[in-house]
Amino acid sequence: MFEYFESLFNRNNKERLEHTPPERMGISPSSRINAETKTSIIAIANQKGGCGKTTTCINLSTALANMGLKVLIIDLDAQSQASLGIGINTDDLKYSIYDVLVKNLELESAVVPTDIQNLDIAPASAMLTGAQLEIANLLGREWILRTSIYKMINTQTRKYDYIIMDCSPSLNLTTINGLASAQFILIPAQTHYFSLEGMKELFSTIEIVKERLNPKLQILGILPTLYDMRTRISRQILGQMRKYFGDKVFKTAIHTNIKLVEAQAHKKSIFEFAPNSNGARDYLALSEELISRICPEFTPVNEKEKAVEVEDLMQSHILSQALNDR
Ligand SMILES: Nc1ncnc2c1ncn2[C@@H]1O[C@H](COP(=O)(O)OP(=O)(O)OP(=O)(O)O)[C@@H](O)[C@H]1O
Ligand SMILES: [Mg+2]
Repeated sequence: MFEYFESLFNRNNKERLEHTPPERMGISPSSRINAETKTSIIAIANQKGGCGKTTTCINLSTALANMGLKVLIIDLDAQSQASLGIGINTDDLKYSIYDVLVKNLELESAVVPTDIQNLDIAPASAMLTGAQLEIANLLGREWILRTSIYKMINTQTRKYDYIIMDCSPSLNLTTINGLASAQFILIPAQTHYFSLEGMKELFSTIEIVKERLNPKLQILGILPTLYDMRTRISRQILGQMRKYFGDKVFKTAIHTNIKLVEAQAHKKSIFEFAPNSNGARDYLALSEELISRICPEFTPVNEKEKAVEVEDLMQSHILSQALNDR
């Protein structure tokens, strides 16, 4: 079975991704500076349906917001699942991302807060389906979102550390708008047999977007999702992903975890719904890895490290007291 992948990725060396360490993954120093001082804009995209784009968008955004970083989700899928999953009632919305794309509304007017501190969302609505046709003949139709985002960032009407876009599984004008606006693309990929097949198509799409619309778009990483380490096929596919895509694959894999499904059904992030679950642990690890990839200099101290620091401090305190007492 895996000969197929060998031929797929070896056929043309140009098509094969380089195995480069993260610091040389093409993430330029300027984008690091950007991440430190400005907004990092990430599109979560893969034309493969059901690979965990929306689940990743909701839970990664929440993990970052919980660290005190300001995050904006832009829901670019007419299914509105990111909006619904974070607890937004899409029937009550005055504006949505549709109005930004079609009616020339300023992005900040479509932004609403969520129940999670530091996390806002520009929600989608079903009307987004119609947007494809409505903007099809506009000049600069691919750039509408990019213009809106950069206007918001430059006028500093709202400040965000991260803008995270949930793209739809089809390569429509809305997805193109997302990819044209992003600095980074994060690609969730199921650790299932057929998910790798679609990858080649996705990479040629990314190349076209880079050539024609957004030369600075960088692959932030491929995220293995729905990983079930009990099954051999899942382990084999993850192995193949790491072999062919090297360090482009996140070290973190998102394991299959029913709590992630239940959280979405309860319109909550995994951190509110089941903070001690494996799903929460995986998305926290992803958020930390993502920060270190975009900006290696800035990694938040994790709880283990904090504990060690406290222990060290206490030990040296006890030691100095003991010395003084002598
Ligand atoms: N790690 C996981 N463990 C178990 N279920 C998951 C996991 N990740 C996602 N799911 C479930 O799989 C389904 C598809 O996930 P999700 O909606 O995130 O995919 P998607 O790529 O956004 O789909 P679409 O292409 O339709 O937008 C959902 O029911 C979700 O709850
Ligand atoms: Mg989705």
